[in-house]
Amino acid sequence: MGSIVQTLLILITILFLDSIIALEYPQELNNNLYPADDNQSTPPAEATAFPFSPARDSSPRAPALFVIGDSSVDCGTNNFLGTFARADRPPYGRDFDTHQPTGRFCNGRIPVDYIALRLGLPFAPSYLGQRGSVDDMIRGVNYASAGAGIIFSSGSELGQHISLTQQIQQVMDTFQQFILSMGEDAAYDLISNSIFYISIGSNDYIHYYLRNVSNVQSLYLPWSFNQFLAQTMKQEIQNLYNANVRNVVVMGLAPLGCAPYYLWLYQSRNGQCVEMINDMILEFNFAMRYMVEELNKELLDANVIFCDAYEGSMDIIKNHDRYGFNVTTDACCGLGMYRGWIMCISSDMACDNASNHIWWDQFHPTDAVNEILADNVWSGLHTSMCYPMNLQDMIA
Ligand SMILES: *[C@@H]1O[C@H](CO)[C@@H](O)[C@H](O)[C@H]1NC(C)=O
Ligand SMILES: *[C@@H]1O[C@H](CO)[C@@H](O)[C@H](O)[C@H]1NC(C)=O
Ligand SMILES: *[C@@H]1O[C@H](CO)[C@@H](O)[C@H](O)[C@H]1NC(C)=O
Ligand SMILES: *[C@@H]1O[C@H](CO)[C@@H](O)[C@H](O)[C@H]1NC(C)=O
Repeated sequence: MGSIVQTLLILITILFLDSIIALEYPQELNNNLYPADDNQSTPPAEATAFPFSPARDSSPRAPALFVIGDSSVDCGTNNFLGTFARADRPPYGRDFDTHQPTGRFCNGRIPVDYIALRLGLPFAPSYLGQRGSVDDMIRGVNYASAGAGIIFSSGSELGQHISLTQQIQQVMDTFQQFILSMGEDAAYDLISNSIFYISIGSNDYIHYYLRNVSNVQSLYLPWSFNQFLAQTMKQEIQNLYNANVRNVVVMGLAPLGCAPYYLWLYQSRNGQCVEMINDMILEFNFAMRYMVEELNKELLDANVIFCDAYEGSMDIIKNHDRYGFNVTTDACCGLGMYRGWIMCISSDMACDNASNHIWWDQFHPTDAVNEILADNVWSGLHTSMCYPMNLQDMIA
């Protein structure tokens, strides 16, 4: 086992060496996705195929969407960091609007892209990928960084990432810029009416608890570990509240025990999910949901909702025929059993058509799944998974 991992790391290091050295990632790759002005006359060539029209035709339902999280919602942060956790080369992005890699860990769109569309907003640009002007950030910013966890050091063996606490710090810096440029009242209106979407926690399992870092499994049972994560998250949401944030979506964790990586690692038979891991995820979601209930009691003028990605994903896995998925255990891109052994690093490793797959790579779902989950967050379209209400009702 150890030697396999070592060989893999060497292989991956060789494959990624050039991108690790080339830390300066071409900025235009991201920027041309996000026309900064409202000028209707000549949209950039790239944007013509881009569904911005909802934002222009009708007024948005919230002024902005801000995103905090990990690879489930990273849209390009890690392109600028020295890390193995990156999605800046094909086949990533091959079914995205631009058919280019952007840093999204998906063949196409991530859930927050669909949420932005439902809100009538453009896709939120990556914090590190925009120019830092208020105009670039006024309709939302995405701070999410692949490999990041609630715990500062989760994921650090992959290289650099922006942890939860650091992302919140970047949010505060953005708020300062808003206040300086538009004054306190206008900034207050913007911040208190915007949506904050938080999707993080997987790496506290993948890269911390399940790897037994610092002997954590002997010190904490999953239950106390989850209490710790939930309390940390609670503190961060309170910090946001103190900075006038009022609308927060907390996304729960998907059934990691069904991810192709763990099916491979635990030598699953017939694609049976790893129950030991799923049990921990269930507990995590339970702890987060309870924490959100507490917050709603304590912060009376705030709206915090918890959306249970485990429920939504299990509905998709169980009823996969209804949703048009006939490949439910194997990743579209990767190598080995369940294509979960070696991470997706080249187009040769990918299936022809991801649209009938649930999993895109070792850990991440396909665009098709992301759309279903986002529609559930928005309105419970396929199955109700948000408590105490969905996003559409929250902002109504
Ligand atoms: C919109 O574009 C036209 C033509 O390119 C330009 O003259 C005009 O100043 C622009 N308006 C704004 C608000 O940027
Ligand atoms: C976690 O690591 C510690 C020390 O490295 C070890 O004693 C313990 O048995 C490990 N726990 C599990 C469940 O592997
Ligand atoms: C899934 O369906 C496609 C056609 O829609 C077919 O080509 C493929 O072989 C099927 N895969 C499995 C695992 O059933
Ligand atoms: C993938 O398959 C779906 C139907 O199963 C089809 O609608 C779509 O056009 C295909 N995509 C590509 C890129 O072939």
